[in-house]
Order: sequence, then C-alpha cells, then structure tokens
Amino acid sequence: MPHLGFGVGLRTPHLSYIRRHLPPVGFFEIISENFLGAHGGRRQALAEIADRYPVVLHGVSMSIGSTDPLDFGYLRRLKRLAEEIRAPWVSDHVCWTGVLGVNTHDLLPLPFTEETLRHVVERVRIVQDVLERPLVLENPSSYVEFCDSTLPEWEFVGRLAEEADCGLLLDVNNVHVSAFNHDFDPVRYLRGLPHDRVVQMHLAGHTHYGTHIVDTHDAPVAEPVWELYRLATELTGSVSTLLERDDKLPPFPELLAELDRARESAAVLTGGPHA
Ligand SMILES: [Fe+2]
Repeated sequence: MPHLGFGVGLRTPHLSYIRRHLPPVGFFEIISENFLGAHGGRRQALAEIADRYPVVLHGVSMSIGSTDPLDFGYLRRLKRLAEEIRAPWVSDHVCWTGVLGVNTHDLLPLPFTEETLRHVVERVRIVQDVLERPLVLENPSSYVEFCDSTLPEWEFVGRLAEEADCGLLLDVNNVHVSAFNHDFDPVRYLRGLPHDRVVQMHLAGHTHYGTHIVDTHDAPVAEPVWELYRLATELTGSVSTLLERDDKLPPFPELLAELDRARESAAVLTGGPHA
C-alpha cells in the first residue's frame, strides 16, 4: 500500500477553501455515504479534488460483523465511487450497525470470539472480491463489551486482518478511548497488532467525562493520544495518517497546523520527510 502522507478528512464546509487554496496535504478521506448519492456540485467538487489529491473512502454502514446478509447493492455503489475517484483503498469499521434490516447508525461492538472471527473473515473475503480493491478495517471506539468475548480486541482485530488478508486502519484515539472505558493497557494493544497490516492511522479529539471518554471528533488531538501515535509510528515505521474532525470545525489552516505535528513526529522517528 502506498504511503499517502498526511491527510485530513474532507468535510463540506472546507470544500471551497480546499478548491481555492489547494492546501499542502498528502491525501483526503471522505465518508463514503456522504457522496454515494451526491450529484451536481458536490460530486463535481469531489471529482476536482480527486484529480489533485489521492482520496480514500471511509464508510460507516458496511456492517461487516452483522448476521444480516451483506448489502450487495451498497457494495456495488461503493465500488463505482471508488473507481470514479481512483481510491487506493476502501475502509470501514470492525463492528456491526444493525440486524434484521434495522440500521442503528451506530458502530456497535462485536463479541470477540472464535465464532465471530470466522464469520467476519468470510465476509471480508467476499467484500474484497466484490470491490476488487483492498478493504481496510478500523478499530472503533466502544462503550460496552460482551461478557461472551474470549479474545482481547487487539488479538481479534489482528487475526481478522491476517486470516481475511485485509488491511488495518489503526485509530489511535479509539485505542485510547476504549482502553480508558474498558480498563485495558493501550500500549499492550498497539504492541499486540500485526504492524505490517496497518496501512493507515487516524488521529482525532475526544471528550473526557471523568468516568468515561466519548470519541466526539470535536477537539484537537489530546496529549496521551499523541504519545500513543509516537509509539504506533515506531512500530509501523510510519503509514498514511489522517486527522479526523467532524464537529466544531475550525478554519482549515488550524487543521493543517495540527497535521504538521503528526508530520514532524513521524519525521523524527523515521528520519525522513513525508508529504
Ligand atoms: Fe477513526
């Protein structure tokens, strides 16, 4: 997988700034569902940006862990969009979003068991065959866990990537959030992953409520997450890194300044500049 450098999630309020200024970022990531049905101006803006920058697709409704049948209509539309913008990969989350046809619009946690692993591995293989592009799966943040889980999350996610032959999107903030919420060691999590499977990382802000942390994407990246990012960069040797911001969006140049910190951190650790 190519190192695309350091990117920012493409959000509608920033579209005109990006088209006017062509800011120095390595790539953009779009929420697939925001563009699957888009026509006219927004689709045109995306096509223009994709002519200038690599753009990867990040989805929230594949529901790879559900027991509902895979939605082949959705997968075909995803494939067309990926082809249109020449996306190097398509990502989604290690989760389920609904069952019996109901979409909760939430990224729900899975029971981490051998049975779930077999189920998800089979579905990932099918999805990759349909998309004819690498599928990259992200560790979501979570707030509850199943008593039935027999594997730690990092082992489940790592074995999923190895056995289904897919990539991992390591969201460092999500590791921090879930580690606090479920009282596990985030360093052990990072060290326990198959590092050569990590093709992209996410950085984002969260909200700490004292008793729990929520992955709100409405603030700058927190210091403990930067520390985990340094370790993740050491372990993976630096991969494409994206800053996610979905709420309380600052002017685009503020995000660029935050992205510089990721760039500098990776350059110090790997001894080389990246886009
Ligand atoms: Fe993320």
